[in-house]
Amino acid sequence: MSRRRRVYEGKAKVLYEGPEPGTLIQHFKDDTTANNNQKHATIEGKGVLNNRISEFIFSKLNDIGVPTHFIRSINMREQLIREVEIIPCEVVVRNVAAGSLSKRLGIEEGTQLPRSIIEFYYKNDELGDPMVSEEHITAFGWATPQEIDDMMALALRVNDFLAGLFLGIGIRLVDFKVEFGRLYEGDMVRVVLADEISPDSCRLWDTRTNDKLDKDRFRHDMGGLIEAYQEVARRLGILFENEPKRRGPTLVK
Ligand code: TMP
Repeated sequence: MSRRRRVYEGKAKVLYEGPEPGTLIQHFKDDTTANNNQKHATIEGKGVLNNRISEFIFSKLNDIGVPTHFIRSINMREQLIREVEIIPCEVVVRNVAAGSLSKRLGIEEGTQLPRSIIEFYYKNDELGDPMVSEEHITAFGWATPQEIDDMMALALRVNDFLAGLFLGIGIRLVDFKVEFGRLYEGDMVRVVLADEISPDSCRLWDTRTNDKLDKDRFRHDMGGLIEAYQEVARRLGILFENEPKRRGPTLVK
């Protein structure tokens, strides 16, 4: 295999130089971490599943006019993306209380929230990605007020789309995290969805059983992570094994 220039290596992904200027190859690894890197494991097959699930979601979002960095699939673990300047804020959207929200505010896990809530976290491993307000983001220049508005509007569109997509296949979208980047096109710059959307970055509960079909299985040592991710892919209709044709999501009634 020809040697490619590695541009960036994160916990679960590697970015390589792409075939054309302004493009990158996003490679999904099998590595997984939790608790701000204190816990680490390699789970065979996770990268392939996340790549498939994320490319499926990103291409559907492109189809409905949510701008993303995704261009096309390359292989089982890799996708071609547009190079963007990542805005150093993670955007979390919550529909149901869980995780750090439940802990911070003492709200029982599983409680439906009165409305979808958006939170921002400053991307900084050394600080453990602290939660920040819009005031912090603008005061420290991490994003402009207009970019914050764009991120919030896009995050809510992603939430509506994903909640409906998952509900149709018997999965409750509890919460998720997304990242955005600045895409420079000539004199223009616009905010587009970047990174990934997969069971690593969402909380997904089976609507009937409340089974967790996401990374909480790893965070809480529950086991069965690959089986859970496979189940999400299978319900989305994008698992290759035993599926000669890709059919798309199968509605669960
Ligand atoms: P939290 O409840 O731990 O704050 O997580 C909220 C959502 O964001 C959950 O779906 C998991 C996701 N998330 C990430 O993808 N990466 C992270 O580093 C963190 C802290 C959360």
